[in-house]
Amino acid sequence: MNDNLSSLVGEAQRLFAVAADAATLENAKARYLGKNGLITERLKTLGKMTLEERATAGARINDAKQTIETALEARRAELAEAKMQAQLDADAIDVSLPGRQRGMGSVHPITYTRQRIETLMRTQGFAVADGPEIEDDFHNFAALNMPENHPARSMHDTFYIDNGLVLRTHTSPVQVRWMENHPPPIKIIAPGRTFRVDSDATHSPMFHQVEGLWIDRDVSFADLKQVLVEFLRLFFERDDIRVRFRPSFFPFTEPSAEIDMAFGEERWLEIAGAGQVHPNVLRAVRLDPEQWQGFAFGMGIERLAMLRYGVPDLRLFYENDLRFLRQFT
Ligand code: PHE
Repeated sequence: MNDNLSSLVGEAQRLFAVAADAATLENAKARYLGKNGLITERLKTLGKMTLEERATAGARINDAKQTIETALEARRAELAEAKMQAQLDADAIDVSLPGRQRGMGSVHPITYTRQRIETLMRTQGFAVADGPEIEDDFHNFAALNMPENHPARSMHDTFYIDNGLVLRTHTSPVQVRWMENHPPPIKIIAPGRTFRVDSDATHSPMFHQVEGLWIDRDVSFADLKQVLVEFLRLFFERDDIRVRFRPSFFPFTEPSAEIDMAFGEERWLEIAGAGQVHPNVLRAVRLDPEQWQGFAFGMGIERLAMLRYGVPDLRLFYENDLRFLRQFT
């Protein structure tokens, strides 16, 4: 029994020592300590022994068991260490290799266009203003001289939220908010997101506008023309730009114009609405139309970007296709 046990222990130690990997080692362990392992079997015989026999045999078997367990632990540690070392050798850093490239992010073309517009308009003396995207009826419609039954207020056009709130359908409410809070002279642009129930190659339910507003004692339609034409020259950096003011109607400007532009002999494209701010709009913000006057315009930022970069479909800006977006980095 005694000899038998110690040879068992020796055998286990040798087996562990030659186990070259964790799986082999765990197999070897099962041979001694598993459910039907050689040591486990010995422990099972204790029940049939007398009390005296059991005391001595039990102690010896447990001794053997412990020695085997210690050997097992030691070998496990050795193997783990060897494995890690092998990993380290395999992953050894070759300092002569080029560094891993990290993809550089870039500004979205619409954001870039907006920033360019801001920069160019600042050079003409316009400050950059901001306003909420969720608007109330007064700022989006009523103060802009849009009567109750104006078609632009219809459900087909406007996203209504609740409590008379809407997703602003244009950036013109920023005109109103700015004039409510700042005495003239006023010279601002207000770029931002706008929302309309509309979707095709040249319309998106969410799009961007940039509003312009210049109010002073004698700001005229001539100033409007000068500012816009100068802006378009700077923005497109082309000599063959043609600009056309087409008579139009907006409730909040009088007279009103739609502004078309074309490169050379190409076809005309509408890029903005504009006009002299309607006296009723000035009255709505308690400015005296006999004292103050000026112009406002609203341009589509996507339209400007499409023209500048030759993008045929506005929806491309919102598909997040990197093959498209990478062309603007
Ligand atoms: N708010 C108008 C629109 O969205 C554009 C506009 C702005 C027209 C300012 C005139 C003056 O269509």
